[in-house]
Amino acid sequence: MEKYYCTTAIDYVNGAPHIGHAYEKILTDVIHRHYSQRADLAFMLTGTDEHGIKIQKTSAANGMSPKELCDMNAQKFKDAWKALDVNYTRFIRTTDENHEHVVQKIFKKLVKKGDIYKHSYTGLYCSGCECFLSEKDLTEDGLCPDHLKKPEVVEEENYFFKLTKYKDAIIKHIKTHPDFIVPAFRANEVINQLEDIQDISVSRAKSNVTWGIDVLDDPEQVIYVWIDALSNYITAIGYDTDTPSDEFKKLWPVDVHVIGKDILKFHSIYWIAILMALELPLPKHIFAHGWITIDEAKMSKSLGNVVSPTSVLESFNLEYPDAFRYYMASAAPCGKDGNYSDEDFKEKVNAHLANSMGNLLNRTLSMLVKYFDGEIKPEFKKDSPLYSKALDTVKAVKHHFDYFEIQEAAQKIMELVDATNKYVTDNAPWTLAKEEKTEECGVVLATVLEVMCVIASLIYPYCPNIAQLMAKQLSYDINIKLDNITCNNIKTGHLISKEEIKPVFLRLDSEFADKTKK
Ligand code: ME8
Ligand code: MG
Repeated sequence: MEKYYCTTAIDYVNGAPHIGHAYEKILTDVIHRHYSQRADLAFMLTGTDEHGIKIQKTSAANGMSPKELCDMNAQKFKDAWKALDVNYTRFIRTTDENHEHVVQKIFKKLVKKGDIYKHSYTGLYCSGCECFLSEKDLTEDGLCPDHLKKPEVVEEENYFFKLTKYKDAIIKHIKTHPDFIVPAFRANEVINQLEDIQDISVSRAKSNVTWGIDVLDDPEQVIYVWIDALSNYITAIGYDTDTPSDEFKKLWPVDVHVIGKDILKFHSIYWIAILMALELPLPKHIFAHGWITIDEAKMSKSLGNVVSPTSVLESFNLEYPDAFRYYMASAAPCGKDGNYSDEDFKEKVNAHLANSMGNLLNRTLSMLVKYFDGEIKPEFKKDSPLYSKALDTVKAVKHHFDYFEIQEAAQKIMELVDATNKYVTDNAPWTLAKEEKTEECGVVLATVLEVMCVIASLIYPYCPNIAQLMAKQLSYDINIKLDNITCNNIKTGHLISKEEIKPVFLRLDSEFADKTKK
């Protein structure tokens, strides 16, 4: 595999990041890190969506300029991703000069092509969605179903994009590419939305919105948020309407856009039409993840239950974000909603990462020191049925990632951990040692350590720090590509001494703090 390019949605910067934003960035980083174990080049893009009426209003209410608000909050997102070890390759802000410039050129190109035209319009605008809604979209009481707010009646002369021109081509693409929209059950939803699609407004009058990118040659119009936001996926990697960069040529088309289910329509309809209009290849996959609730309740400012991801790290006093990453990345089956609760978090990571995985390594290494002074003798290295299970797990994990089944892949890894624990129990190396069946005992320990190397590689995307701690104690090169993994990882000779053995993950037993108060 030559390259893998993945993106997240770019977040609105009205406030600080919450656990829902974190869920998406962690999922994408886990995907990114997994493919870094398979591709020559893995590239992850994330960033912030900074224009629009909401930012304009929030900043005014806070006595700041829009740019000041964006600068302040964009930094909070960067800080959060750093704390969570979200190892993005590039961070784009839609206020970046290059982005603004290329968006203007994209707009101009589509005007020239006749795909964007000017038109007088009366519409219902929801500033929560930053989009126009049709009567049909509203609740019985005439409210936006997502924000439960009455949309504003807006009368403007705007530029429109000829979405209808691309309708049939998009339907055809979806139908002929069953893995384009992930999970597949959402494809029908999109096809239904396409049935009565209209041309869409892609600009706003400056008299109503000032915080946006100006339309070139028409200073009374500002480019509407979605065309600006969606273009980030190409401007960030050097797209240009004249001569795209070499990086763009290498990375495009994107392998996956990871987004939330609420913005699937924008990605699988609007964005696809824009790409068709620009005559660019289409994304390989659009993965719409589900939503995260807190203690089974929808997160909202009015409920006061918005959880900040960094407060979780702080309240559990986590040295590394690994446990939180593991928990979030496996919070839901592909595309389904998930939930965060302190209790469940603590219980699950204690069970999986401390008791099952961490302990297994710790006691095996301790036995190796106790019985063999930390040495692997050549006669300890024997083939084992557990090895085919380990290599089958590598295959299964790859397969799950190819279908964005990130929770399912984690389950496969834990099944291998469980099977290895069972192997230890069944073979009772402590009994073998007592009975002086030295070689047999050594074979059992070496077998477990071989498999632990495979487990370290597989858990790495979820738990990069823990994986590195494991690898260090196993003298294993964690940078190995998944396709090169064997069960001949452990070198013979001295492996480890007592002082070098360290638990890779300590149980969480701290009392919870009340995070929502922060
Ligand atoms: O929609 N659980 O920004 P946004 C899971 N700027 N995911 C959640 C979530 C939750 N509780 N809440 C939000 C925007 N998200 C646009 C995107 S992309 C070109 C422009 C996800 O800050 C949401 O689904 O409202 C989206 O994918 C991302 O967070 C940013 O949401
Ligand atoms: Mg949103």
